[in-house]
Amino acid sequence: MGNRYALVTGASSGIGFEIAKCLASRNYNLLLTARKEENLRKAALFIEKDYGVKVDIIASDLQDKSSPNSIYDFCKLKKYNIEILINNAGYAIPTSFDQTSMEEEEKFIRVLGIAVIALSKLFIKDMLAQGKGRIMIVSSVAAFAPPSTIQVLYGPIKTFMNRFSESLNLNYNHKGITTTSLCPGYTITNFHSASGVQQEMDRVPFFMKKEAKRVAEEGVEALLKGKPVCVPSKTFKIIVFLLKLIPTSLFFIMSSRLAPGRYDKK
Ligand SMILES: NC(=O)c1ccc[n+]([C@@H]2O[C@H](COP(=O)([O-])OP(=O)(O)OC[C@H]3O[C@@H](n4cnc5c(N)ncnc54)[C@H](OP(=O)(O)O)[C@@H]3O)[C@@H](O)[C@H]2O)c1
Repeated sequence: MGNRYALVTGASSGIGFEIAKCLASRNYNLLLTARKEENLRKAALFIEKDYGVKVDIIASDLQDKSSPNSIYDFCKLKKYNIEILINNAGYAIPTSFDQTSMEEEEKFIRVLGIAVIALSKLFIKDMLAQGKGRIMIVSSVAAFAPPSTIQVLYGPIKTFMNRFSESLNLNYNHKGITTTSLCPGYTITNFHSASGVQQEMDRVPFFMKKEAKRVAEEGVEALLKGKPVCVPSKTFKIIVFLLKLIPTSLFFIMSSRLAPGRYDKK
């Protein structure tokens, strides 16, 4: 097992915690990060006890510009060799665009976008020196869908992250570094309650809500195989396939039943 580490952001709950467990089951030591130290500590204890790998934590708020550098410096200090970087931390803002301050939007873009770029930029240099590395960006089915009412910038930043992931692959795949964009659909986690959009999730039919464990397992399999994109579950594979084919007007009719409220025209 040695010094082989995976770094997981947003690892204290939901998809990130499940990804951390999947990687631990494959004998990766872990560095877990999120804001709330107590939750990280609990997650680390759980994984160490169940999987017997080394698990360390660093509490850090990715809204802070200095956060990616602090996480990287921590790894250097501890001599952790990060072979896998999982960019998973995320949330949504429930307030409408005209009611949200620019500062809130900037913090949002920092967590879901700039921090992902910064961490990838820092760790890819070490991965290149080793001639191998795996990066995951937890994106969303929203990256393929027309804009939604959930938040003006949520879909656009996920689309941007998918393109960023493709770009990394084009530039570094032949040097042994693969990037996987994991695009889950509705997943049962703290995301909707933490982001103030639980009502929307409650209206979604049950067959469209997936377990975080299942999303993580499919995602980690794809990551380790070096697949560029992973859309977990047959349901959402079909939806993404259709999204690429059907006209937007038809999509709006379908979504009024399958995701009530999310794509309604105002
Ligand atoms: N759930 C879904 O339906 C769904 C669907 C598609 C894509 N996704 C994406 O999946 C990813 C994970 O979400 P989830 O569903 O697992 O939600 P979750 O259960 O709410 O987990 C979010 C994680 O991110 C951390 N986090 C939030 N803000 C942070 C910040 N400023 N700095 C550092 N860490 C932060 C949280 O911990 P702290 O609060 O302690 O910081 C937590 O560990 C997100 O990128 C989300 O966009 C979710």
